Amino acid sequence: MSRTVIRNGLVVTASDETHADVLIEDGRIAALAGQGSAYAGSWTADDVLDATGRYVLPGGVDAHTHMDFPFGGTFSSDTFETGTRAAAWGGTTTIVDFAVQTRGYALREGLDKWHAKADAQCAIDYAFHMILSDVNDGTLKEMDLLVEEGITSFKLFMAYPGVVYSDDGQILRAMQRTAANGGLTMVHAENGIAIDVLVEQALAEGRTDPRHHGEVRKVLLESEATHRAIQLARVAGSPLYVVHVSADAAVAELAAARDKDLPVFGETCPQYLFLSTDNLAEPGFEGAKYVCSTPLRPHEHQSALWRGLRTNDLQVVSTDHCPFCFSGQKELGRGDFSKIPNGLPGVEHRMDLLHQAVLDGHISRRRWIELASAAPARMFGLYPKKGTLAPGSDADVVIYDPTAEQTLSAETHHMNVDYSVYEGKRVTGRVETVLSRGTRVLDCGTYVGRAGHGQYTPRGLCQYL
Ligand code: URP
Ligand code: ZN
Ligand code: ZN
Ligand code: ZN
Repeated sequence: MSRTVIRNGLVVTASDETHADVLIEDGRIAALAGQGSAYAGSWTADDVLDATGRYVLPGGVDAHTHMDFPFGGTFSSDTFETGTRAAAWGGTTTIVDFAVQTRGYALREGLDKWHAKADAQCAIDYAFHMILSDVNDGTLKEMDLLVEEGITSFKLFMAYPGVVYSDDGQILRAMQRTAANGGLTMVHAENGIAIDVLVEQALAEGRTDPRHHGEVRKVLLESEATHRAIQLARVAGSPLYVVHVSADAAVAELAAARDKDLPVFGETCPQYLFLSTDNLAEPGFEGAKYVCSTPLRPHEHQSALWRGLRTNDLQVVSTDHCPFCFSGQKELGRGDFSKIPNGLPGVEHRMDLLHQAVLDGHISRRRWIELASAAPARMFGLYPKKGTLAPGSDADVVIYDPTAEQTLSAETHHMNVDYSVYEGKRVTGRVETVLSRGTRVLDCGTYVGRAGHGQYTPRGLCQYL
């Protein structure tokens, strides 16, 4: 049996902050005990980590990533190997990535493809959601099988007509299915049909710069789609999780639904909290670096997102990590913003940016861990294996230095992408050591992980229902 003890740290979970020592046996948390207690003093271990002056945190759970993801004729630039390594550097020890059903093919085929991409490649544990591109009798039946084997959430797109778009009838049918099989429907809430009209008009008028990506993907078309998704979920009697919420009016739709006690949940991402349309408007095609959907919004929207995170109208912060290099990928859209592949790099920086939000007074320390670890684990059926430090939990542990300062930059990040959306941003706090199931992945700022350590992790049902 292997035994590790972490001594002298401040253990922070979503529910508690305690000066406790942590005993790890065979990859799981075996016990926590007060520092200086006879019990903690009695522990012997092969390996002792000193966390004096540090936080001891449950590893981050990033419930929204796209590794090696096809978009607009190219693929996101992080593989499961490079992307999970970068995640580990940033204190994330589990990702839930989106397997994609190719239109016309079975869900199973898409799932097999995602296993082929990810298996034996990951530095940290991983699980899958399923993107439905094609709702029909066959795929509806397959949803039941997937729920049984641990793929318990399904993303449907109200955007991207002709690609992964589902119409309202298809979305309703998928929701009815999850209402029956216990799965969770996730929706990308933007009115893609209306957006495509505005895209066509903008391009015809010569408005081709990246900033027009933000202008055509209007707040009203996010809030309208959010409202419609909620009503469809009510009709189906199903729960709903709205991904990458960016607009104040969309938060208001979620809040109104939750005030009616409806099982409606929402996620936002660091880019909507820290970046804005000002970035999309950067000159010289630099704005392309910030093209994602839903789009960045005027910074006035940020206060509603922060408030939603505090009031629990938004429950989760994920990254929607979907990197494309500026050179050769974002550049596909020079002269036509609609050809810029959508997505931003971010999997490495979520824990640090949210810690900065603690220092800035937006959220509490425990809320940081709730949003980044416990809530996504509960939402997607991974708790308490993931998302907390309790006896029996996987020993996915981050030793975090809350006073170290760092400057975020493409020069120093570990994501496989040639720019940073946070270039030059200074943050206080840094991941020092990371354990995944008790094994060191990052050791005092040195990467010691390996591709293939990460295990595929089937999930249970949403634990908020
Ligand atoms: O721009 C984004 N978000 N790209 C990834 C795909 C999606 O819609 O989440
Ligand atoms: Zn989306
Ligand atoms: Zn501004
Ligand atoms: Zn996404």
